[in-house]
Amino acid sequence: MDAYLLDWLNLLLRWLHVIVGIAWIGASFYFVWLDNSLVKPTDPALKEKGVDGELWAVHGGGFYNPQKYMIAPKALPEHLHWFYWESYWTWMSGFALFVTLYLFNAQTFLIDKNVYAWGSSGAAIAASLVYLVMGWVVYDAICRFFGQKKNGDAIVGVLVFVYVIAATYIACHFFAGRAAFLLTGAMLATAMSANVFMVIIPGQKKTIAAMKAGLPPDPAHPMRAKQRSVHNTYFTLPVLFAMLSNHYSFAYSAKYNWLVLVLIMLAGALIRQFFVLKHKGRWEYKYWAIASAILIGVAIWLAPAPTKPVAALAKAPTYTEIKPIIEARCAMCHNANVQMKNVALHTPELLAQHAQNVYQQAVVTRAMPMNNSTQITEEERAQLAAWFKAGAKTP
Ligand code: HEC
Repeated sequence: MDAYLLDWLNLLLRWLHVIVGIAWIGASFYFVWLDNSLVKPTDPALKEKGVDGELWAVHGGGFYNPQKYMIAPKALPEHLHWFYWESYWTWMSGFALFVTLYLFNAQTFLIDKNVYAWGSSGAAIAASLVYLVMGWVVYDAICRFFGQKKNGDAIVGVLVFVYVIAATYIACHFFAGRAAFLLTGAMLATAMSANVFMVIIPGQKKTIAAMKAGLPPDPAHPMRAKQRSVHNTYFTLPVLFAMLSNHYSFAYSAKYNWLVLVLIMLAGALIRQFFVLKHKGRWEYKYWAIASAILIGVAIWLAPAPTKPVAALAKAPTYTEIKPIIEARCAMCHNANVQMKNVALHTPELLAQHAQNVYQQAVVTRAMPMNNSTQITEEERAQLAAWFKAGAKTP
């Protein structure tokens, strides 16, 4: 019953997380596009008002004419819409989902003894939380310290890139591959939300407070906000890959999984760069070319070695030969009492019912046994494959 309720919690949180995530990333994509598509106004009245860029668009049957002011309009409008709940809800729902999935089941999902032998679940849980916080602390320090210097944007960009590589490496050497990918994505996403919460919104509030006090707004705030929002733009595609990666065990269970994650995230950032420039009218296909080369390279690198032909086994194993493998390697998490993902394999009927999925999980994707915690051998995987291909017979 508990597992069932946890599944519902998982479903509702994930649903919410995807919806608010779409709202946030959608707004982010829209504003990056808008900012890069603005043209200088020609109408003297607009220039007089302080408008620095404008755009005409048609959508859903209406004409729209957004205008961007240099720093701020002369007088504050009565109704001002703020964009931040999309970001905060995305973080809150994502964090709750992380807690439900990875921290409640730390032994299964967060810890892989073949990667790092944590003394206790508590230690691993604490480390994952410290990892999330440190991600923001270090990133923010880089921006604050180097951001205002000459060539600050470029220096910060390079340092953040190096930092992301280091953080990915660390995550992949302390946590189960699947959790490590998610945690790296969550760390970047936390920095994105914290950018909104700690820098962008407070800066906007200060600008408004200055205007209300009749003082000229400090241009440092919009500049700092702009730098953070540029970073957020390049984080979006990498973060989305990290969030989806848990479906693709070939990526997170690769030997050098940290490098796989770094390369795929890099490809994502390059593709984003293509679109950022395209909004400004520059079609730089080289970014697509490099990103595609990286993705194809990774695909070739990770391609599984051809499996041993079934004929190599003298004859397909019978159920009696398969049973001990299932009992030793799978039953621990798929039995009468514990049924991960509603899969139980302790009777011939259940094994027959799940045969296709057993083959898929234990032979094709090799996602099972989870983190190979039960140390299944290659020989045993080959036997499962042969049994399945010979018709998955049970008495
Ligand atoms: C340490 C625990 C553990 C062991 C051992 C284990 N599994 Fe799993 N299994 C899980 C968990 C956890 C899930 C749910 C994964 C998820 O949510 O994506 C799962 C899911 C599955 C699924 C459903 C996958 C899907 O997405 O439909 C199948 C099938 C499966 N396991 C088969 C096996 C087989 C076959 C073995 C033995 C070779 C095995 N498992 C060993 C923990 C385990």
